[in-house]
Amino acid sequence: MENTINWSELSFGYMKTDYNVRCYYRNGRWGELEVSSSETVSIHMSATCLHYGQEAFEGLKAFRGKDGRIRVFRMDENAKRLQSSARGIMMAEFPVEKFEEAVCKAVRLNERFIPPYGSGASLYIRPLLVGMGALIGVRPADEYMFLVFVTPVGPYFKTGFRPAPVCMMRAFDRAAPNGTGTYKVGGNYAASLTAGNKAQENGYVAVLYLDPKEKLYLDECGPANFFAIRNNTYITPASNSILPSITNKSLTQLAADMGLKVERRPVPVSELGTFEEAAECGTAAVITPISRIDDLDENRSYIYSKDGKPGPTCEKLYNKLVAIQTGDEPDPYGWVKIIE
Ligand code: PLP
Ligand code: COI
Repeated sequence: MENTINWSELSFGYMKTDYNVRCYYRNGRWGELEVSSSETVSIHMSATCLHYGQEAFEGLKAFRGKDGRIRVFRMDENAKRLQSSARGIMMAEFPVEKFEEAVCKAVRLNERFIPPYGSGASLYIRPLLVGMGALIGVRPADEYMFLVFVTPVGPYFKTGFRPAPVCMMRAFDRAAPNGTGTYKVGGNYAASLTAGNKAQENGYVAVLYLDPKEKLYLDECGPANFFAIRNNTYITPASNSILPSITNKSLTQLAADMGLKVERRPVPVSELGTFEEAAECGTAAVITPISRIDDLDENRSYIYSKDGKPGPTCEKLYNKLVAIQTGDEPDPYGWVKIIE
């Protein structure tokens, strides 16, 4: 099997692997982890995940190091965020230790799908939590399923670590001002499909969303957080309608370690013209530098890369992050878990 996968040509897509790991919440408690080789799930037609969007998910990655060892990046953070999403839409919280156990199991059982060191690909890990209980009134379910599957992936954006254009369109929001934007729930992604498609049809990799209340501040960028560099400062939006990105949290630490000032605060649209570099960051996007932001309503563009190359600070941050993830450099904060 390994020989038939062209690891360096992988895109960000689904590929069948050998096993997934499942766990069910019934009668007020979580059961044992179960290993399955089936790609399908059997769901009651009246389950809350199908009707009322009781669904949350996570995304994290495993990497093969030069030393051959397997490393998973910050899975405790993903476990905690899934708990936060569960609270946000009234689902049963999945315990952190059980989450970690399920992830390690899924990775180990599918070891032959972990891309080799240096291929630029990684093993994407997708945990999800769904309401299974059959209801017809709008209420939280009393039964849930947690599932984790894995699939080898290449870069999320075709450009990889090369600057790509994004656009702003004030007619679209992905989340409401006091809605579910801070949770990783399926509904936010459904809400982003129309704008995302429109952007892609026009040659952009993503939409840079503005704050849904006033449209005065930057929110986030498609399935990734936004950051910018100016005057040796790492600037990233604070907002109560964006997902708290674990990649962004890691980059703020690495930026501070490199001697940059870090500002997490509301970022007015009016600052766009002052940035030296701009980028989006996330597990799938890693760091994707932004070449240009086109404000399609105001008919103006902000340019961050003219030569098709990432800016120097984005490049330094990218190299550092990837080096920690793959084990090329020390992991001073204990972000990486080695799977034996
Ligand atoms: N924002 C959104 C909407 C996302 O879907 C993601 C992806 O998980 C991110 C930001 C980045 O978060 P993380 O760095 O934890 O993957
Ligand atoms: C991730 O970065 O892990 C994501 O979940 C982004 C996306 C594929 C939804």
